[in-house]
Amino acid sequence: SAPVRASSSSTSPSATVANSQELKIKSVPTQPIEGQKTGTSGLRKKVKEFMRENYLANWIQALFDSLPPEDYKNGVLVLGGDGRYFNKEAAQIIIKIAAGNGVGKILVGRLANGGFIMSASHNPGGPEYDWGIKFNYSSGQPAPESITDKIYGNTLSISEIKVADIPDINLSQLGVTNCGPFSVEVVDPVADYLELLEQVFDFSLIRSLISRSDFRFTFDAMHAVTGAYAKPIFVDKLGASIDSILNGVPLEDFGHGHPDPNLTYAKELVDIMYAEHGPDFGAASDGDGDRNMILGSRFFVTPSDSVAIIAANAEKAIPYFKTGPKGLARSMPTSGALDRVAEKLNLPFYEVPTGWKFFGNLMDAGKLSICGEESFGTGSDHIREKDGIWAVLAWLSVIAFRNKDKKPGEKLVSVSDVVSEHWATYGRNFFSRYDYEASLILCYFECESEGANKMIDYLRDLISKGKTGDVYGDYTLQFADDFTYTDPVDGSVVAKQGVRFVFTDGSRIIFRLSGTGSAGATVRIYIEQFEADASKHDGDAQIALKALIDLALCTSKLKEFTGREQPTVIT
Ligand code: G6P
Ligand code: ZN
Repeated sequence: SAPVRASSSSTSPSATVANSQELKIKSVPTQPIEGQKTGTSGLRKKVKEFMRENYLANWIQALFDSLPPEDYKNGVLVLGGDGRYFNKEAAQIIIKIAAGNGVGKILVGRLANGGFIMSASHNPGGPEYDWGIKFNYSSGQPAPESITDKIYGNTLSISEIKVADIPDINLSQLGVTNCGPFSVEVVDPVADYLELLEQVFDFSLIRSLISRSDFRFTFDAMHAVTGAYAKPIFVDKLGASIDSILNGVPLEDFGHGHPDPNLTYAKELVDIMYAEHGPDFGAASDGDGDRNMILGSRFFVTPSDSVAIIAANAEKAIPYFKTGPKGLARSMPTSGALDRVAEKLNLPFYEVPTGWKFFGNLMDAGKLSICGEESFGTGSDHIREKDGIWAVLAWLSVIAFRNKDKKPGEKLVSVSDVVSEHWATYGRNFFSRYDYEASLILCYFECESEGANKMIDYLRDLISKGKTGDVYGDYTLQFADDFTYTDPVDGSVVAKQGVRFVFTDGSRIIFRLSGTGSAGATVRIYIEQFEADASKHDGDAQIALKALIDLALCTSKLKEFTGREQPTVIT
């Protein structure tokens, strides 16, 4: 066989056909490879897996076999990535197969808003770690399950890959390379993105805050793609000092880091923000720049609160929303803080399964403007992905708006002030997530995900027997189910999206298996409890939620099923 490799010039095609305009297309025979099913967010595997003969090529060909030809023949597709190890080789494979299938042009930027995205997001990178690919559809949203299911089906029956017989393209220089009817254009993605952001936000308002000497700002790019965006945006446009950017150089292995902006993996930033006399505002984003974490001085804003607070302040502080957001939405496990804002502002509200792809239809239908997930994703309908830099600018807008009339020397309204005031108005939804990550579960089980799967099966059985009024410790069950979502726009239904126990006081315990790992299973437990009494808002979430957490662990028999005593990450 003639496998498709990064440098396919060395392979001998079994058949070569010239098309009318001198682009030679090779037909490379191949065989199905098992396990190429798309997860929550694209196909993610170890780099070594992706380097197997035809592994990536099969998936890309299966993707073209799944799309209506009018969506790509002679059309323009976009290719971008987060700069992780194997992106360079993968880009050449994708370009040649795209050309082989009749795509007219590929636009390449380091991070794209649509098309192919070469990233495993917040997962670690490097030869021993993860790689991933996802395809975003026509208006930029992650491909819906109707497409990803088709791709998976095609990976199981694939027999041929169509590859253009062209040399590797130089992707390091801006400009156009022509190969007959096919061309590749390398563009500067930062310039386009910046132009869009300037239409969304009031940059002079944000600048008035960032350039104050009594406001100290820090952004941690975690050696990932936002390193390329941080200086042009925060420093050059908004007046931040150059040393306010941490880990600003993108690296193929993220400097051996785990580029996930949370309290565990963004430890360097967290230490700085919790030090005495630390900065007033800190933020980080992940491998591909779509996640974000917002911190104040010694203060962590949960992603569930973050989206609620942005939504509550958007109309005043962000020009893009000057006529008010059209609607708000969150993923099912995300806390109900946003629901309360929607209620108060009398806005349409939607609860979708975990996965950004579910927001796209609502946005395209003009029903949704601002949405977020507990997994550090926040965004709006300015694009069809969550957007880490957008979230940072949204927060800076809110803080800047509150301080715009403050004279030098006057005490500024801080991140924690804004959050406390929000809780006083809307009540506080205490929230925490416990993750039991794959690699550690592996140590206890020969079959990597057996324990986790058994636990979910056990919970499904339990909820099938549960009824309203059942007593769980101090809590009374209102209902228990496995979340099913019906898309209000196209009527499509997705089932089994998370086992939830909802109690009569509104408290919730939710269990899911992650869909973004590259191996094994990660158990996620989400715990939430509402508190209206402002005198109790300052407490630590772990203490406020202790009884529910204990209840979750004992109800699920997590320890018995997985052997795990402690979670890997608590957020
Ligand atoms: C990605 C997706 C999000 C999702 C998150 C967690 O970031 O884009 O939409 O919430 O992963 O997914 P998981 O299945 O691992 O809980
Ligand atoms: Zn990401």
